[in-house]
Amino acid sequence: MEAVTWIVDFGSQYTQLITRRSRELGYKALILTPEEVQKKMAGPKESRPRALILSGGPKSVPEDSTDFSFLFEDEGLPILGICYGMQVMGQFFGGEVERGRSGEYGKARLRFLSRPIEHIPQEFTAWMSHGDHLKEAPEGFETFLESENGLIAGIRSRHRPLLGLQFHPEVEHTEKGAEILSYFYREVAKAPSSEWAAEQMLEEARGHFSCVRETRAQVLCAFSGGVDSLAVASLAHETIGEKCHCFFVDHGLLRPQDHLHIQELQEKTPLNIHILRCRDIFLERLIGIHDPEEKRKIIGKTFIEVFERQVEEYRKREGVSFDYLLQGTLYPDVIESMSPHATGGKSSTIKSHHNVGGLPEKMGLKLLEPFRFFFKDEVRQMGLALGLEKKWVFRHPFPGPGIGIRIVGEVSPSRIEKVQASDQILFEELMKKNLYERCWQAFTVLLPLKTVGVKGDERAYEEVICLRLVNSVDGMTASWTDFAASFLARVSTRITNEVPGITRVVYDITSKPPGTIEWE
Ligand code: XMP
Repeated sequence: MEAVTWIVDFGSQYTQLITRRSRELGYKALILTPEEVQKKMAGPKESRPRALILSGGPKSVPEDSTDFSFLFEDEGLPILGICYGMQVMGQFFGGEVERGRSGEYGKARLRFLSRPIEHIPQEFTAWMSHGDHLKEAPEGFETFLESENGLIAGIRSRHRPLLGLQFHPEVEHTEKGAEILSYFYREVAKAPSSEWAAEQMLEEARGHFSCVRETRAQVLCAFSGGVDSLAVASLAHETIGEKCHCFFVDHGLLRPQDHLHIQELQEKTPLNIHILRCRDIFLERLIGIHDPEEKRKIIGKTFIEVFERQVEEYRKREGVSFDYLLQGTLYPDVIESMSPHATGGKSSTIKSHHNVGGLPEKMGLKLLEPFRFFFKDEVRQMGLALGLEKKWVFRHPFPGPGIGIRIVGEVSPSRIEKVQASDQILFEELMKKNLYERCWQAFTVLLPLKTVGVKGDERAYEEVICLRLVNSVDGMTASWTDFAASFLARVSTRITNEVPGITRVVYDITSKPPGTIEWE
């Protein structure tokens, strides 16, 4: 048995959250599709998980004849069924699931029918999202929670380590949700906590380098200086030393703070960082381009081209040829590409994200992705455990195409400078007021319009800067940051006074969705 919980993904929008909450409680958890679970269950017993958590899902149990008996064959395996997962469990053991006559959506009051779980009040509020419901508990099960509508909200087996919850303990709207999940792990699954701290995560990530450690292989890291690539490169350096070579592309679409950051990393870390200065070629290709997707494609393609060329030159000059490409890919990207369930189907392309995706095939490199099972907050924990400075670890994310996607309309050297100068002012003011860490991302965007203003006694007809400040957990959803008006006023005054060609500053008060964080 492995010390890992498998989160069986039936297509709930909360599957990632179950995984995150489990890890926050100190339990290692991985998402698998039902098909993967079935295959693995047929394998050796030692590779079975410590527990299963069955997620919610959009299907209806009474209308689906899929055979899920493989989930319940091992009598000793602890299982938590959530929402649809509870109904799958309930039906398997002989209970009846009734089709959508009386759904419960949103917050609901629940009460214990017997002694409450430790640390949880007799009545509490939970998040529900179900049309079908379990009409009666199967034989051998006790209903221990009921909703204010008289529906079954929780069942547990008298003979086996099985627990079913009709509500979602993983979402924030459920009061004491973490304690309820913890009850499953502690009392039902009897799992020791703290299996999943920074040191264990690092140990697991180090394992990815075993293919390099004992060989002469050399590793190339496409290095952006963000927390993901910085932490992954630091781990690589700690594990394989000088065999890891970091290449940083300066495409001319960086802010003053990015140059200082890279310089600081060169001075203060042992990493082998090469800066590829390629502004001219990027600028040459971007001049006059208006369309956001075209800009993204040009930047992405040029990035790969210059990267490849420089690596080839490096190989000739230094005699080092590379076998692996090291990337700081995170779990949400892996989930999105692996499981159509996890995201409710492959989402349509909103923007073509720039990363180094085309590189490995083009250069014949094998991929090394030691963080492919981690979330960003976990990478930050590992970063701190690796001894990286806090300000590096909590640096705001910065997109691969840089400020190329923050210049709405035509790209030109003078418009790049306007974004650089205004961004620097915003950055300085955030630092001065200790507000930098109170938002997820903060930047300026140059809009494609001119407005009339007055500067001195003269009419001005100049461009507009928009301030974009957001709070988020993972960039998937976001809300605009509600900083004091006096702060915004100060930033606005400085930008209109100090940045030539800007007479007006506006503030973006759009959440994501419907807006995205970046403007292009
Ligand atoms: P959006 O604009 O899609 O951004 O709401 C979500 C998060 O992703 C970042 N972002 C990118 N990061 N390459 C990246 O590495 C990209 O092409 C890219 N586009 C957006 C964005 O800054 C935000 O943190």
